[in-house]
Amino acid sequence: MILAKTALITGISGQDGSYLAELLISKGYEVHGVIRRSSSFNTRRLDPIYKDPHEANTRLILHYGDLADGVSLTNLIRDLQPHEIYHLGAQSHVRVSFEIPEYTAQTTGLGTLRILEAIRASGVQTRFYQASSSEMFGAAPPPQNEHTPFHPRSPYAAAKVFAYWITVNFREAYGLFAVNGILFNHESHRRGETFVTRKISRAVARIRAGLQDKLYLGNLDALRDWGYAPDFVSAMWLMLQQSKADDFVIATGESHSVREFLDLAFDRVRLDWHQFVEVDPRYLRPSEVDHLRGDASKAERVLGWKPSVRFPELVALMVDADIQLLEDELAGRLVGVDRES
Ligand code: NAP
Ligand code: GDD
Repeated sequence: MILAKTALITGISGQDGSYLAELLISKGYEVHGVIRRSSSFNTRRLDPIYKDPHEANTRLILHYGDLADGVSLTNLIRDLQPHEIYHLGAQSHVRVSFEIPEYTAQTTGLGTLRILEAIRASGVQTRFYQASSSEMFGAAPPPQNEHTPFHPRSPYAAAKVFAYWITVNFREAYGLFAVNGILFNHESHRRGETFVTRKISRAVARIRAGLQDKLYLGNLDALRDWGYAPDFVSAMWLMLQQSKADDFVIATGESHSVREFLDLAFDRVRLDWHQFVEVDPRYLRPSEVDHLRGDASKAERVLGWKPSVRFPELVALMVDADIQLLEDELAGRLVGVDRES
């Protein structure tokens, strides 16, 4: 009998964690995920693959843990001995990181070190993926690739730069199979509701239904390289299947402004966003990242990776999904999956 590969995912309840868990289960993996204790259910995105742990052949197993709690991470890694570890957990909101910088450094920065130390100290033979970010490039002009120097513009980005380099250091110092995926922005209808794309797609659905009449945003001129999250999680998996550990930029190679996102999103329902959108300075950042556009030619050459969804399709699918979600909510068709503690 061939034993299934096991993977451990931190941040499994987030956008990327949920898509990655689906991908790995479809490839026959047994998937273990770290979730935080919360006063309400925080595993909504896992509903499509969640099975009651009492059922036979459950391939998704959730464990309580926290990136600020090194003991929980060390115990899990030692006990599970996973073949692959995808470290996606983080305080991932850039604007919020200015308000909770120390917590962001603790989780987004030091969380990575805690996991790497747990791997090193336990001697577990595993492959490690670090969710690095295009935010690390910050003020460096586009196009950005693996050789572009970092110039972080937020506590979040600074914490990610630490996590990036500590991953490289553990690879060089201890020979760990540890890689950085430097991913540019990627979105979907599972994107957190306070990131700009999802904030817009949800607002479009609500304005169309007459439930909202204003959308308050910050900097409309920022340019981002926006891709589709399911495409991007497949690149994570590819990076851990290589014979040599290496770092890769993952991006679409196109950038668009927040204004362009608004144009396409409101056009989808034949509305003019200028009638609904107002700029509220509270959403501006003390220091902004003006322009991100990635050059993912190395990933295409080495991993054979290419994005399948482009900007107009991404906007359309997010708006359509939020319209459907709202209609389901209004019709009382949404019933969450219940689970045990
Ligand atoms: P996300 O939706 O915000 O998910 C973050 C995950 O981390 C959630 O599962 C969250 O749990 C968990 N988490 C937060 N703090 C934690 C803590 N103290 N202990 C344990 N878990 C904790 O983020 P995402 O968009 O899926 O992104 C995944 C990773 O890629 C993140 O590291 C992010 O910084 C990075 N990244 C994202 C993008 C992007 O465009 N999406 C681009 C580059 C890099 P809760 O559900 O309980 O909050
Ligand atoms: N969130 C938010 N809310 N952003 C706004 C708003 C608003 O009301 N109005 C304008 N923006 C602008 C931000 O100033 C930023 O320039 C751009 O929209 C994108 O903001 P976010 O969607 O919050 O994403 P981000 O680029 O700051 O960070 C995301 O991508 C990074 C990769 O580059 C996050 O997913 C990070 O975790 C990730 O590392």
